[in-house]
Amino acid sequence: MYPSISPQNTNAWKALEAHIMLEMGFTLEELFEQDQERFRKFSLEVNDIFLDFSKTHIVQKTLDILLSLAYNCELPSAIQAMFSGEKINQTENRAVLHTALRNFSDEPVFIDGDDIMPEIQRVRDQIKDFSEKLHVGALTGYSGKKIDTIVNIGIGGSDLGPKMVCNALKHYAVEGISIHFVSNIDNSDIHETLKQINPETSLFLIVSKTFNTQETISNAQVTREWLSKNSSKEAAKQHFFAVTANNEAAEAFGINTENIFRFWDFIGGRFSLWSAVGLSIACYIGYDHFDKFLRGAHQMDKHFQTAPFKENMPVIMALLSILYINFHDMNNEAILPYDYYLKYFPSYLQQVVMESNGKSVNRLGYYAELSTSPIIWGEVGTNSQHSFFQLIHQGTVKVPAIFMAPAIPLNGSIERHNILLSNFIAQTEALMRGKQEEEVLQEMKKKKYSSEEIDKLLPYKIFDGDSPTFSLLYKKLTPEILGNLIALFEHRTFVQGVIWNIYSFDQFGVELGKELAKEALPELEGKESSSKHDVSTKGLIEKIKKLRTEQ
Ligand code: F6P
Repeated sequence: MYPSISPQNTNAWKALEAHIMLEMGFTLEELFEQDQERFRKFSLEVNDIFLDFSKTHIVQKTLDILLSLAYNCELPSAIQAMFSGEKINQTENRAVLHTALRNFSDEPVFIDGDDIMPEIQRVRDQIKDFSEKLHVGALTGYSGKKIDTIVNIGIGGSDLGPKMVCNALKHYAVEGISIHFVSNIDNSDIHETLKQINPETSLFLIVSKTFNTQETISNAQVTREWLSKNSSKEAAKQHFFAVTANNEAAEAFGINTENIFRFWDFIGGRFSLWSAVGLSIACYIGYDHFDKFLRGAHQMDKHFQTAPFKENMPVIMALLSILYINFHDMNNEAILPYDYYLKYFPSYLQQVVMESNGKSVNRLGYYAELSTSPIIWGEVGTNSQHSFFQLIHQGTVKVPAIFMAPAIPLNGSIERHNILLSNFIAQTEALMRGKQEEEVLQEMKKKKYSSEEIDKLLPYKIFDGDSPTFSLLYKKLTPEILGNLIALFEHRTFVQGVIWNIYSFDQFGVELGKELAKEALPELEGKESSSKHDVSTKGLIEKIKKLRTEQ
């Protein structure tokens, strides 16, 4: 097991504090004036993904100290511990082996002395077999018609990952198959989905690691009733499949044993899309594409495991993000894909990053005394330019932003794609350069503003600039590249957790709200009334009931 080290006590952390206070303080523009080689020095290329991090506030010495921080915090042994199946999720006494799901190296992977690869291969074969049967029309519903619709019912990691990937790889979708995702306990979610589908030709994948998540089980029950009404209880059964680590609960729900796809407790929910949780992906884009997607992630795993840290993309991205969070007090990051297909990438990443590293207690059990996970938010470009970019350019909050874009479009002409990319390029440039008073003044004079207008409007037209950005350019959105990109962000998250010395693979913080919801439910139903609540909570429950009686 890798040791527990408080990063603030390392030499590198102290050196970084001194370096930033005494030797830095330059604007991005000044840094570029000082060194014309920045782009060459501060960029990296891995597996057709190019990272430009030159528009960040670093010089070579900053990077060197950040790299020594990674060594001071024993990152190499943490990486080794994760890949080799040590139980690094110590609060749940589990290994963390989503990397084994995309291991194509022929190397065994052991947990407690057992090689888990044969079982992983068995489930891969099961996914392949199922998706191929679907595509050749061998899967039929209760009335004998061919299945053409898949509905994934799950939430959190059992939804966000597969939904994001299916949307991202829509271009590769198998013709004639449609896919839906239902996650919310809000009945409108399942209601609107069932309205669109034909019960005779739809299959339902109930995806839940624990198989006791309220939203998922409730949505599955509603669906089962709906299907039974259209057919019969027995007939409905053949339309239900489960993806779970809890076979017993799935069987108890009434899912046939042969319809259960297994995954394991060493796969965290938010890292599960590489497992049978990705069944909807294989159904939607075909097993060959799913295989390429897994292999893409494996490429990034190999890079992460073997590349020296100074050339290691997840490590560099993690360290620079730490620089802004812990040394410049910028505790949020915007994820801005200039790629229509990556619409759900920011919301997917919110779970990966914030559920993993939204922690305040360190691995020694003490308050961590440093900022941990950034707040992740974002939206596709160029739409976001017309909503929240005003704040990024002229607001009072500094936002490090990760821009992402493909060089080659999947649809349409290069000419039109160039319009998109010109926006991508222009925004990172504008965020760096800003527009200073002198420049604004000259421009206003040129446009013949009166001196009164200049006095009045000048302050509003100034852009401070000097905002850090990262540009992630990839050749084209293929299954392999998407696999690489996701694994890149997974490993970035892992590295940050190691350096902050927190446990990244549990999520106890989501439990309290679930428990209290269980208490509030009977009260809303009028079965109980509790005096335990504060007056606000009690008042809200009463207000809901009153509003209903007034209907
Ligand atoms: O409530 C959070 C969480 O436990 C996530 O970590 C998980 O991805 C999600 O709920 C769904 O859990 P399950 O797959 O067990 O239904």
